[in-house]
Amino acid sequence: MRCTRICSPISVGDWHTAGMDVSGVRQASAQDAAACIAIYRPYVENTAISWELEVPSVEEMAARITAARTTHEWLILEDDGQAIGFAYGHTLYRLPTYQWSAETGIYVDPDRHREGGGRKLYTRLLQRLTERGYRRAFAGITQPNEASNEFHRSFGFVNAGLYRRVEWKLDRWHDVAWLQLDLSGADDAEKAPGLIS
Ligand SMILES: CC(C)(COP(=O)(O)OP(=O)(O)OC[C@H]1O[C@@H](n2cnc3c(N)ncnc32)[C@H](O)[C@@H]1OP(=O)(O)O)[C@@H](O)C(=O)NCCC(=O)NCCS
Repeated sequence: MRCTRICSPISVGDWHTAGMDVSGVRQASAQDAAACIAIYRPYVENTAISWELEVPSVEEMAARITAARTTHEWLILEDDGQAIGFAYGHTLYRLPTYQWSAETGIYVDPDRHREGGGRKLYTRLLQRLTERGYRRAFAGITQPNEASNEFHRSFGFVNAGLYRRVEWKLDRWHDVAWLQLDLSGADDAEKAPGLIS
């Protein structure tokens, strides 16, 4: 059965906006590992937002940055030469049929929230993933996290489902909501996807 309006893909958010200011955002390198850890550490140690129990080593973080840069993207937000946030994409599932779907993540220094930095980072990240040929972005958000829920919705992400009591951290279970965004527009429904570059 041909897809009709009722089963057409989710509409694209407003992150396509031409001329969106992404100043202060640059591509990461392995040398940014320590700065990323400094931003990431409080989320690992004090919250269930990160699903990790141990803060990664500099070597591990450098390897993650290099791997993400190779296949997806890893970006840094800087202010006055200092990293204050990062965002990345990586593989959602290691299956050939899922290769056009990326998982995204973002962490902004807790002292620099709500200054528009996250929007700059994600705008550029989603642009870059689209340029590389990815068709869908997915974000897994430990609940409750109204800032991240609203942040993702502001880009057009919509609810994809809820993993109930999937994460054990800080002495209790946590639900994880998944949100998703179509990157390439509603016209990709019946076209075979191209190669990821
Ligand atoms: C989610 C996060 C990345 C947002 O970054 P940020 O730099 O504070 O976001 P911005 O200032 O660019 O805000 C962009 C939009 O997101 C939404 N938003 C951000 N924080 C919000 C909050 N606390 N409450 C409601 N909406 C919020 C708003 O729509 C906002 O637009 P507006 O300011 O024009 O209303 C940041 O809160 C963060 O690092 N949180 C901890 C880590 C985390 O949860 N990461 C996501 C894991 S999936």
